[in-house]
Amino acid sequence: MQTQAIRFYHRGQVREVTDAPVTRTVLQYLREDVRCTGTKEGCAEGDCGACTVVIGELRPDGELALQAVNACIQLLPTLDGKALITVEDLRQADGTLHPVQQAMVDCHGSQCGFCTPGFVMSLWALYEQCAGKAETPDRQRICDALTGNLCRCTGYRPIVEAGQRMMALPAPHASRLDPKAIAEILRGLRRSETFHYRDRSGAWFHAPRSVEDFAALKAAQPGIRILAGSTDIGLWVTKQFRELGDLLYVGQVDGLRELAQRDGMLEIGAAVSLERAYAALVDAHPELEELWKRFASLPIRNAGTLGGNVANGSPIGDSMPALIALGAEVVLQRGAERRVLPLEALYLAYQKTAMQDGEFVAALRVPLAGPRHLRTYKLSKRFDQDISAVCAAFGITTGDDGTVIEARIAYGGMAATPKRASHAEAALIGARWDEAAVRAAMAALQQDYQPLTDMRASASYRMRAAANLLLRCWLETRADPLPAGQVNVRAGSVAFDTTTIA
Ligand SMILES: Cc1cc2nc3c(=O)[nH]c(=O)nc-3n(C[C@H](O)[C@H](O)[C@H](O)COP(=O)(O)OP(=O)(O)OC[C@H]3O[C@@H](n4cnc5c(N)ncnc54)[C@H](O)[C@@H]3O)c2cc1C
Ligand code: FES
Ligand code: FES
Repeated sequence: MQTQAIRFYHRGQVREVTDAPVTRTVLQYLREDVRCTGTKEGCAEGDCGACTVVIGELRPDGELALQAVNACIQLLPTLDGKALITVEDLRQADGTLHPVQQAMVDCHGSQCGFCTPGFVMSLWALYEQCAGKAETPDRQRICDALTGNLCRCTGYRPIVEAGQRMMALPAPHASRLDPKAIAEILRGLRRSETFHYRDRSGAWFHAPRSVEDFAALKAAQPGIRILAGSTDIGLWVTKQFRELGDLLYVGQVDGLRELAQRDGMLEIGAAVSLERAYAALVDAHPELEELWKRFASLPIRNAGTLGGNVANGSPIGDSMPALIALGAEVVLQRGAERRVLPLEALYLAYQKTAMQDGEFVAALRVPLAGPRHLRTYKLSKRFDQDISAVCAAFGITTGDDGTVIEARIAYGGMAATPKRASHAEAALIGARWDEAAVRAAMAALQQDYQPLTDMRASASYRMRAAANLLLRCWLETRADPLPAGQVNVRAGSVAFDTTTIA
């Protein structure tokens, strides 16, 4: 097997890299190797947005997709065949600023300036999406686009105002970034066979194009580390300085990037980004919208995959409770063989899954028809870009007579794995969907979970919050009217009269 150069488009030319470690981050490459220091390093863990760049990639349909990602946790070999666009690219050929930059100046959106390139790149990705469709983003869409960017001195109002102003300024007249020309260059870089790259330490990076080649490489080397969006793995490099050995990249496998509806199921390939996956999930199940918007930040969701979230199986991962409540299945593949498990059966113990040697997550299958009542709640200290202390999901189906026919309840943050609450479910099934049954199920949660105390929450907080979230689900979905004066339920938030809740 021959090593090949990593080829990508950057600053008007095709770069070829042959001597970088497999785990070199895009940010290290930019700042240390080619001295493009406009892109900053703050946290080196995807949390602050100072390193935001835009990656251009050909979608399977041949169109160019431009997406903001965090350069600090993206590994350089994953750029093969893509375009890397940084803040240095925005100033126009005649020296004038891009409308995004001009709007930041006009609105006083920068003080110390450290965060500014990151904000500008997040806004530029939004600008390009909107300019292509002659749209003007509303305030909410601008705020969503900026969820991954932190500013500690200017404050967000002027920055959001810059986002509101940018589309009104004259369009770029001497741009150095022509999406059509970039797409043409990327077509020339497209590989039909697996990309292989080896660094000086002897570590390999393989990026197959077909599911068959991916499965064959995994079967031949069962211990090889699969790399998807690297939003978990990137931190093992930058924070834990771990050696990862050889890497097998899912990101170029077209067959794993598919989203399709088959047999009443939404099938989400393992390489589909979190952002695309959640958009499709929310189409089918609008109740998941808040969970989507509160999952990390847009740059993390652009890079990270639903397959990676599920395969990593973190006890505080946000997707699994909702997917379990929906009755999702995971498709595992080894060689040419596939098997399907209920998602909850994937998780055996802390960091231990039912995946066997050589097996990988090929897809998720999520029923398009949901339960009668579906609710998810994420409890964390911040609204955006935070890890859950407790994440709860409830899928409750009642019959015409009001009795519970099916209850699927799952929590994150309550056990060593994402876990179903079988005792609480049993307390509900066959009972009326009323307060007595819900209180019995709340008590049964004590048998389902013995949560830990850690820096995010104490065990007693977790237990009490978990139980009260079930009560909240019932309050929001109960058939009979609310008893006056006891609770005040509003869309998206609940104010409890705490005297009524144990
Ligand atoms: C700033 C920040 C915020 C975050 N916020 C959240 C949050 O709000 N909620 C949340 O749940 N998570 C959050 N995460 C964690 C992370 O984004 C998710 O777990 C993400 O879904 C991981 O997907 P990935 O594609 O990046 O996986 P990677 O990092 O590439 O891989 C993760 C693990 O999964 C394995 N893997 C990946 N794909 C496969 C496959 N197809 N088959 C078998 N194994 C595979 C890898 O080998 C690795 O062990 C956050 C991370 C960061 C950095
Ligand atoms: S340096 Fe903070 S997100 Fe990358
Ligand atoms: S301008 Fe200083 S951190 Fe944002």
